[in-house]
Formats: sequence, structure tokens, C-alpha cells
Amino acid sequence: MAEYDAIADEYAASKLLPWRTQVEQPTLFGLLGDVRGKSVLDLACGDGIYARMLADRGASRMHGVDLSSGMIDLARRSEAARPRGITYSVSDAADVRGLGGFDLVMAAYLFNYAQDRAQLRRMAESAYRNLVPGGRLCGVNDNPRTSPGRYRYYPEFSFIRYIEKPQREGSTITWAIQPDTGEPCIFDNFWIPPGTYEAVFAEVGFKEFRFVNAHVAPGADPTPFSDFLADCPICGISAMRPLGS
Ligand SMILES: C[S@@+](CC[C@H](N)C(=O)[O-])C[C@H]1O[C@@H](n2cnc3c(N)ncnc32)[C@H](O)[C@@H]1O
Repeated sequence: MAEYDAIADEYAASKLLPWRTQVEQPTLFGLLGDVRGKSVLDLACGDGIYARMLADRGASRMHGVDLSSGMIDLARRSEAARPRGITYSVSDAADVRGLGGFDLVMAAYLFNYAQDRAQLRRMAESAYRNLVPGGRLCGVNDNPRTSPGRYRYYPEFSFIRYIEKPQREGSTITWAIQPDTGEPCIFDNFWIPPGTYEAVFAEVGFKEFRFVNAHVAPGADPTPFSDFLADCPICGISAMRPLGS
């Protein structure tokens, strides 16, 4: 059973917390830009929360992939309740092929599931393979650049994040999020050094791979999130499949 099968409801509830809506979302949407008329592949789509938002923002084609059948069940139920034309499949994101090229690949918390360089590379290859030349990869991720002292409890944000010591490639990062109602949502990510991300994405053929500092929406007051945003636990990621590749 995939880890998320057991926590699908708790995870969905955690997406309503303010740091999700006021930091995670603006960081991701800032990278994605205007999606009207664009085809988007959502790797590690979870329950499809971002797939639905992008369909509502005018994406021309949306397909979501997740390892967890529990998460995909939730996504399909939402699609059945309010059809937007989104399709879903249960698969390892690293194995996605045959869907045709997409203008955008979105990866919201996928790469932090890579337990070593080889797995990160297979995921990056899949993102590249599924983009049209000139297409972009955008996502949010556990921030691998975090200082050791910042793996801690964030009391104002119902959020705990710890890393296994000694910190090395594949170290477990435990996230525990307490939604406003219901059970806490607890899951593990894995740490890969930032320089390994940069090297792997370049080896695969991506250009302009970069980590992007998380932020609030343009014009919004960042003060309520200042403790969260400083050396932030999450970051954006962005890269491009070059034209002519
Ligand atoms: C933190 S959730 C993010 C879900 C969604 N992107 C969001 O932002 O709400 C991580 C998701 O990654 C999925 N996942 C983990 N490893 C995966 C893999 N190798 N291939 C596809 N999905 C994976 C999990 O099942 C889970 O749904």
C-alpha cells in the first residue's frame, strides 16, 4: 500500500492551512504563470487539488499521476462530482510515458520522495521526457537548502519537520502537520543535497534549473509568515526543456 493511501483525508485537510494557501500556492502559481490554453502534467498529483485549480484557471488539458490509489480515488471522486475533463492514472511518476508532450510539468512535492541520486534522476528524466521542447517544469518541494537548526517545530503553523542525523543523501525528513480539525498528517520525505539536484537536472538536459525562495502573493503582507519564510521549509523549483532538444 502506498504511504498516502492511509492519510489521504488528513492530507487533504492539511491543504487548507494558511501556510499552504498563502505561501505554498503563491510560490507554485508564481512559477506556473498563465496556464490558459496550456497542457499540464501533474506528477505526484495527490488528490488533484492543484490539477483542479489549473483546470479552473484555463489549462487546456490536465492529467494527474500518483503512486497512491487512495489519492487517485479522491481525485477521481472530485472529477465525478464536478467534471473538469481532468484524467488521472496510478503510476510511479518516474515511469510515465506515452501521454504525448505537455507544455508544463508540475511537480508539487515529488522530488523530495527520491531516496537517492539514481531515483531523483529517473524522476527528472520522466519530467523531461513528458515535456515538449521549450516546455517548463515547475514545482514546490521540501527545501533541501535548509540550515540544520531549521528542522524544527513551527508552533504558529501546526507544523513539525525533523531530519534524521547524520544528514546525508537519503536522510529521512519527517513532516507532521496538524490540520485545524481531525488527525495529524505524518509522512516522510528524503534529503538529497541541493548540488545533486542541480547536477542531475543538468545531466538530464534541463536548462536553468533553480530553487526559488517561497513567498506570499505579490502585494500580500508577509509578516504573519516571517518565521516560516526565513530559511523556509519549502521552496519552488523551476527548469526548462530547451527548444530544439
Ligand atoms: C505531499 S503529497 C503532494 C500531493 C500534491 N502534489 C499536492 O501538492 O497536494 C506527495 C504525493 O506524492 C506521491 N508520490 C510519492 N512518491 C511518488 C512517486 N514515485 N510517483 C508518484 N507519486 C508519488 C504521494 O502518493 C503523494 O500523493
